[in-house]
Amino acid sequence: MKSGLEDVVAAETVLSDVDGKNGRLIVRGVSLDDLVTRSRYEDVLELLFDGFFPEDGVMQAALGATRVEVFKHVALADPALVVMPPVDGMRAMLARLGDGDDRATALRLVAAPAVFTVALLRLKDGLPPMAPDAALGHAADTLRMLTGQMPTREQIAGLDRYLVTVADHGLNASTFAARVVASTQAGLTSSVLAALSALKGPLHGGAPGPVLDMLDAAGAPANAAAWLDGALARGERLMGFGHRVYRVRDPRADALKGAVRMMAASGAIDPARLALAEAVEAAALDLLKHRKPDRPLDTNVEFYTALLLEALGFPRQAFTGVFAMGRVGGWIAHAREQALDGRLIRPMSVYVGPRVEVAA
Ligand code: COA
Repeated sequence: MKSGLEDVVAAETVLSDVDGKNGRLIVRGVSLDDLVTRSRYEDVLELLFDGFFPEDGVMQAALGATRVEVFKHVALADPALVVMPPVDGMRAMLARLGDGDDRATALRLVAAPAVFTVALLRLKDGLPPMAPDAALGHAADTLRMLTGQMPTREQIAGLDRYLVTVADHGLNASTFAARVVASTQAGLTSSVLAALSALKGPLHGGAPGPVLDMLDAAGAPANAAAWLDGALARGERLMGFGHRVYRVRDPRADALKGAVRMMAASGAIDPARLALAEAVEAAALDLLKHRKPDRPLDTNVEFYTALLLEALGFPRQAFTGVFAMGRVGGWIAHAREQALDGRLIRPMSVYVGPRVEVAA
């Protein structure tokens, strides 16, 4: 068997292609580079859902109305949920949504991570949650509900680019979890809950918060190399580097670096923070090349995610929930694709435990 199921093919999909050798990501035939320059999150949802649900109205309006619908659950958030890490609180609230396989269930599951995460963040700060505005795009309304103010054009574009960039990515751990549950015909909510549970681990979607911890610990560009060298000597992994599939630079890192630079040009990112991140990235790549010469380790999606989400005003403990706001589109499309295939996923294991002979 292959440890970590490396290189094992476990699904056929029309949704996305992760080309690890050439550092390319294709979503339904369109390369990520093209997608990020011309699409908002709603466009990518239409692309991902095409053929999996009957068309029913314009995506932006339908999703806006669904944000308003799921907001009623926010009133049920009790203090125990509010003190949990935001991704755990959001998952508990998501579990209240009924299971189903239709477009209405899918839209509720897309709307809810954004509505619930920002409401929980405001409740944690002792602020009243903001009701959704159905007329706005998903990225704009999410930022407005977070801060209570209408975001700038650059901020909306920054969040849209992030959501588009992370919307789907082949058979990553959380998407595989979604497909396993979908294969039992349990329903979309169950699939999304399983996927979210897989996403929150630090080896998958939990890395960007620790990326900021790393920047803080490095402190200044001149200290970056020494701090990173110490971390590697202690046997630690550098968060935001390395990938199971990419053997070259993760194309999503460049898509997000572009968004970070765009926001820096509009004054929304402190130039000193960007300079520190670039120094840490350069030092990390240099050290990893020397310490792990046999394993190409390059920047992954999480590194610039950290900078972008921080600049958009999300606290670091909420980053995994924001990742889920984007990836949920991919989870749902994969879950539908798997459920329509109709075959239960049920691999084999090799028993390596003892065999006790009972005397006759
Ligand atoms: N920092 C330092 N060393 C790393 C590393 C990192 N970020 N990522 C991998 N390595 C090293 C491992 O220690 C291992 O070295 P060894 O063979 O000397 O023990 C070697 O590279 C192979 O690692 P492996 O665990 O087999 O890679 P993987 O394909 O299973 O793991 C990740 C992929 C993403 C889990 C891994 O690169 C990682 O932990 N990265 C940091 C967390 C992160 O950024 N996650 C977000 C992913 S998008």
